[in-house]
Amino acid sequence: MPDLVFKGTPQLETERLILRKLTLQDADDIFAYGSDPEVSRFMTWETHKSIEEARSFINIILDKYEKDEAGEWGIVLKSTGKLIGSVGIPRYDLKNKSAEIGYVLSRKYWGQGIMPEAVSRVLQFAFEEMGLNRIESCHSLPNEKSGRVMQKVGMSFEGVIREKIFAKNKYWDVKQYAILRSDWQKR
Ligand SMILES: CC(C)(COP(=O)(O)OP(=O)(O)OC[C@H]1O[C@@H](n2cnc3c(N)ncnc32)[C@H](O)[C@@H]1OP(=O)(O)O)[C@@H](O)C(=O)NCCC(=O)NCCS
Repeated sequence: MPDLVFKGTPQLETERLILRKLTLQDADDIFAYGSDPEVSRFMTWETHKSIEEARSFINIILDKYEKDEAGEWGIVLKSTGKLIGSVGIPRYDLKNKSAEIGYVLSRKYWGQGIMPEAVSRVLQFAFEEMGLNRIESCHSLPNEKSGRVMQKVGMSFEGVIREKIFAKNKYWDVKQYAILRSDWQKR
């Protein structure tokens, strides 16, 4: 395992996307989707009511970049230069070489395969650069479109975990997915 876990969160690229570190200049774009209740519906965070909430999210991430604790990338559409979402590794366990991936995309861009493209690139980074062995993700039961992303990137369904998440004043059952390094190599 390299000393620097996220290797300084380097810029990553795919056919249509640039994945790059967030900056405070991204607050307007993050607020634009963070304030959409359809986008935040199954996220653990509350719908943003003011741009300050976007700024404080970015500040938390900037602080983590300093300590190399943040695998959080802004998703920028190459064709427009606009930041339209983010993908990240909010939790990791170096002893067991495992981590969790999470993501969010502005509603206007749903249904174009953008998130599977972004998540695949981060998985490649996690396996090939970070040396991780297992990446997992979960979604609350009704959020099947997130499950579709997990399936499209080659994650396997492992089961339902009851009341794993407490958010928005209730417990949520989730569908757990994961992909192993060996699955990734077979693809
Ligand atoms: C989940 C999410 C990231 C999917 O990203 P995406 O780039 O749209 O992914 P895809 O294009 O592969 O579409 C995935 C599924 O979304 C559904 N979908 C597609 N277009 C849609 C639209 N306009 N409106 C609603 N759902 C749509 C479809 O079921 C699709 O699956 P299919 O390709 O088998 O038909 C995105 O919907 C999102 O940001 N949702 C809110 C945040 C969230 O739930 N994050 C995950 C928390 S676990």
